[in-house]
Amino acid sequence: EVTDYIKKGENEILVKVDGRESSNIPPFGFVIDYLTYTGIYRDVFLIKKNKSYIEDVFVTTPTLSSLKAEYTVDGDKDYTILYQLMDGGKVLEKGEVQGSTLSLSSLSVSPWSPSSPKLYTLRSTLVANGKEMDTKEVEFGFRTIETRGKDLYLNGERIFLQGLNRHQAWPYIGYAASERMQREDARILKYELGCNIVRTSHYPQSQYFISECDRIGLLVFTEIPGWQHIGDEEWKERAVDNTRDMVLQYRNHPAVIIWGVRINESQDDDDFYKKTNDMARSLDPTRPTSGVRYLENSSLLEDIYSYNDFSHSGKNPGVKEKEKVTKHKDKPLLISEANGHMFPTKAYDSWERRQDQALRHATVLNDAKKDNNHIGAIQWCMTDYATHRDFGSGDRICYHGVMDSFRNPKDAAYFWGSQQEKGQVIHVSSSMDIGDYNGGIRGKVWIFTNADSVDVYKNNKKITTLSSSPYSALSHGPIPFSDTIGNLLETEEGFPKKKADIIKECLNAAVEYGFQNLPKKYLLKLAYIMVRYKMSFKDGVRLFEKYVSGWGGKGEEWKFQGIWNNKEGKSVTLSHSSSLHLEVKTSTTVLYEGNGYDETLVRIRVLDENDNLLPYAQLPLSIEVSGAIENAGFDLMTLEGGMGGVIVKTKGVVGKGTLSIKSLLGTEEIEFEVKNHEEKQ
Ligand code: GAL
Repeated sequence: EVTDYIKKGENEILVKVDGRESSNIPPFGFVIDYLTYTGIYRDVFLIKKNKSYIEDVFVTTPTLSSLKAEYTVDGDKDYTILYQLMDGGKVLEKGEVQGSTLSLSSLSVSPWSPSSPKLYTLRSTLVANGKEMDTKEVEFGFRTIETRGKDLYLNGERIFLQGLNRHQAWPYIGYAASERMQREDARILKYELGCNIVRTSHYPQSQYFISECDRIGLLVFTEIPGWQHIGDEEWKERAVDNTRDMVLQYRNHPAVIIWGVRINESQDDDDFYKKTNDMARSLDPTRPTSGVRYLENSSLLEDIYSYNDFSHSGKNPGVKEKEKVTKHKDKPLLISEANGHMFPTKAYDSWERRQDQALRHATVLNDAKKDNNHIGAIQWCMTDYATHRDFGSGDRICYHGVMDSFRNPKDAAYFWGSQQEKGQVIHVSSSMDIGDYNGGIRGKVWIFTNADSVDVYKNNKKITTLSSSPYSALSHGPIPFSDTIGNLLETEEGFPKKKADIIKECLNAAVEYGFQNLPKKYLLKLAYIMVRYKMSFKDGVRLFEKYVSGWGGKGEEWKFQGIWNNKEGKSVTLSHSSSLHLEVKTSTTVLYEGNGYDETLVRIRVLDENDNLLPYAQLPLSIEVSGAIENAGFDLMTLEGGMGGVIVKTKGVVGKGTLSIKSLLGTEEIEFEVKNHEEKQ
């Protein structure tokens, strides 16, 4: 409140930020596995109000057709509030608020849900002494959220939460991202990663991000700032204040469904956490509280037991049994993190590690879903991120993301993407290049897809159709593929089915064990074939060379054709690449300047002629900008794992701007147009 300090005429307001880490301000006091960048990194608003104004409106929806709004007004005590309930531009109801609470029921409205995120606006006008003093608009949705026994219900229906944790950090710019990039992240989580929830680890995140979650229907678990460490009494008071601020600032967002009122992964402290729980519940009785712990059997003051379940190590079950985690078997249990540091994966790691990361995410999600004892699994994490020296891979980067820090997908991102019903996702975990495998043996290749089935073609001949997945609890479990012979022995060699099946079994076993080390079982089968079908060892070697090893042959082309609703849709074609190009993608080429700066992320990948990524390409790029834009990063960079990015930023002027990306593969250019923000629709 600067009223008392300003004078008539021109004033200058200086905002000074002390961004040093202070041990009595959360999250500080001990180490933290992420960077807490300093400075003013969100938009700053100067708000001009009359003496009487609406300080706050808290809108709740006790049922899917009723609304309650509580007003806090500052200034004149003698006032009336006029309200309009609006659907876009259309006024559905209007009238005068009696006292400071508005209650409306039997409304004919649609609920807000992830699949149909319908938003309404409550417009309120404050009238004092016959004059309109203030107008406030609150966007909200009709939705309910409650725990019943061990389950969670959204709009009265049981829901399973599946998603990822997010740090709001980018290369070069830290947290200081434009509205556009904040919003874009929500869309990536929902449409590229197929999540229905995000956890804003480990602090409340940009209002733009959360407002986009409202708009597109992405649920949010948000929490107070902190990481493992609890400080002294003053520190704790600040954490309670942070709880208050979090709830007051975010409680009108329908997307937010859980308040995280514990310091992430801290020890039990019942007195302290009673205060944070009370604070959240007193300001918002409509949402469950939770708080993330790695402790088993810690005390539960919240409605939901959130637990970082890092028990999965690749071969064992994906989740720990509920009874080993908490004695509150009748309360909801949520996995709030999994994988992450248990399996850091770089975009340029070997096929094996990238595939394994994806399968670990699949196993945790599958097993959490299967046992009926979890309300969801939110895994670690959306993207790689910068961190302190004790974490990360020695280069202060945590490679825990299913995407790299430029939001380019690793294999695990395709697993997540394939969990959605909308759109067509199909990705194969292998380039099918045998040279990338020990002894040239591919073993099991995995297909991440939401297709109903996948037809596999080898050199234009269909060899098999795949649809079954061992991940039985997932609607779109990863599909294994290892039989590279399919039906070719029947169609090409004219063998009867029985003969083809036995020979195929032996040839596939030879792939797995090598001819020299074939287990006895297969040797016996081979002997049977030789006698029964009068085949020689040489015949076997010929078939092996023709249908399996592929070395020195004419080369293989593999096509994985996705089938949706009995129709061919997206497909993946894999063959030895011979021509490469850069894929340069941005969600917009029109930026707006004048209301702060605008920025957009340009994602870059090296692809072959079939649009497959070259995951081992470390390609130098030189970045040049001209005109009305600048590059938030450096002029030189190297694509890692075939991927990278540029952040293009406006620089205070309008007009045209060009981004040129030069590499051995040629020059890619994008023309941008920077307009005045007043031209925004
Ligand atoms: C958790 C922690 C996260 C992150 C993660 C990595 O213990 O809460 O912030 O460090 O480990 O897996």
